[in-house]
Amino acid sequence: MFQASVYTNRRARLHKLMKSGIVLLPGNNESAMNYLANTYHYRQDSNFSYFFALCQPGLVGVMDLDNDKDIIFGDDLDMDDIIWMGPQPTMKDRAALAGVKEVMPSQELFDFIQKATNAGRTIHYLPSYRGETVLWFGKILGISPDFVKNYTSKELIKAVVQLREIKEDVEIKAIEEMVDVAYEMQTTAMKMAKPGVIEQEIFGTIEGIALAKASGTSFPIILSIDGQTLHNHFHGNTLVPGRMMVIDCGAESHINYCSDITRTVPVGGKFNERQKSIYNIVLKANMDTIAATKPGVLNRDIHLLAAKTIAQGLKDLGLMKGDIDAAVSAGAHALFFPHGLGHMMGMDVHDMEGLGENNVGYDEEISRASQFGLAFLRLGKRLKPGFVLTIEPGIYFIPALIDQWKAEGKCAEFINYDKVETYKDFGGIRLEDDILVTETGHRVLGKPIPKTVEEIEAMMA
Ligand code: GLY
Ligand code: MN
Ligand code: MN
Repeated sequence: MFQASVYTNRRARLHKLMKSGIVLLPGNNESAMNYLANTYHYRQDSNFSYFFALCQPGLVGVMDLDNDKDIIFGDDLDMDDIIWMGPQPTMKDRAALAGVKEVMPSQELFDFIQKATNAGRTIHYLPSYRGETVLWFGKILGISPDFVKNYTSKELIKAVVQLREIKEDVEIKAIEEMVDVAYEMQTTAMKMAKPGVIEQEIFGTIEGIALAKASGTSFPIILSIDGQTLHNHFHGNTLVPGRMMVIDCGAESHINYCSDITRTVPVGGKFNERQKSIYNIVLKANMDTIAATKPGVLNRDIHLLAAKTIAQGLKDLGLMKGDIDAAVSAGAHALFFPHGLGHMMGMDVHDMEGLGENNVGYDEEISRASQFGLAFLRLGKRLKPGFVLTIEPGIYFIPALIDQWKAEGKCAEFINYDKVETYKDFGGIRLEDDILVTETGHRVLGKPIPKTVEEIEAMMA
């Protein structure tokens, strides 16, 4: 974890942003996989981790805004725990690592909250993404679990987003270390992408790198020669010449900082002419939008720049036609690029998505569009120095979507369906990098991962 002062400062800043009441921030508990004692990989809640640092189950963080106090509720281990888990530091010593001086036993939390609610004080809490947490809130607040989500604190969500979206230097360093683990994962996958290899062999090898060099992956690895399926988690295909393999992967550090990188490579290491022509459009979209990333710009406009680059490139190849601005306004490009350009990244790979995508990616100035394609853009708002975000344009030939649009005659003035038919066996390409918005522009995080046709062919040779 970082130095205690990092966490003390974050809590002090939250105290300043909030008016009054109590912030109630439960950490995550173990989550059972197939019976209670056989649990999934333990993952602390990112908001708890951000303010209270400690990575263990059974803790609740409280910020008393009126009395300017921070408390961790949690218990010292008893002899049974020590027999199974070995000796552990006391709660007091652990809490000190996060700069928290006050520790109280878990069983006192219920009374503490009840006293506060009886006194008419507001309990601020965030949305939950685990059923157990919803039930816990219901119990401690004395309300039906069905209503827990109705009383989440908009003021707290806003304050947490305001803090977490601006990355501190220590966070940027932590993210960058994870991008460098992704470098190892990506380049290992590239070298293994030979005809006859089964996807799972590559998947397992690069998952191993994330486990060996970090806490594991930051999300389930997407690795497939069927890249036209955006989040493909099937790894049973055998690599065959003529297909391209999408590798979308990232690592997560022991204190939850993430990376998220995508490369797409030709099986066997040499691009054919058709692959090269589509690949270079995606590459141009990736590089042009990275170049346009700077403070003050609406990320929605950067997304639309990618859409135009893709539409222009596909027009040059005869797959699209007509006026590019009109095609993008009509959303015609979304047949090939049906997702958003990117998202914030930090302690969650889709940073703070648990607080609500619109609370993170949109604001009073800009709200989410409803048009197919643009509607999936997670981050539309104006960029600020300190944001870390992904840039991940792609071109996909999704046979079922092509069939549907063609049957409906959708955007027929912008799409050459006859030519598109001949690409239905192509698959998909996505290229994703992790970008820091700086005071004057941007910086691509981590050491450069092969990306041009020449760099990829050289790495795979
Ligand atoms: N890794 C999923 C994504 O790129 O958003
Ligand atoms: Mn991403
Ligand atoms: Mn990704």
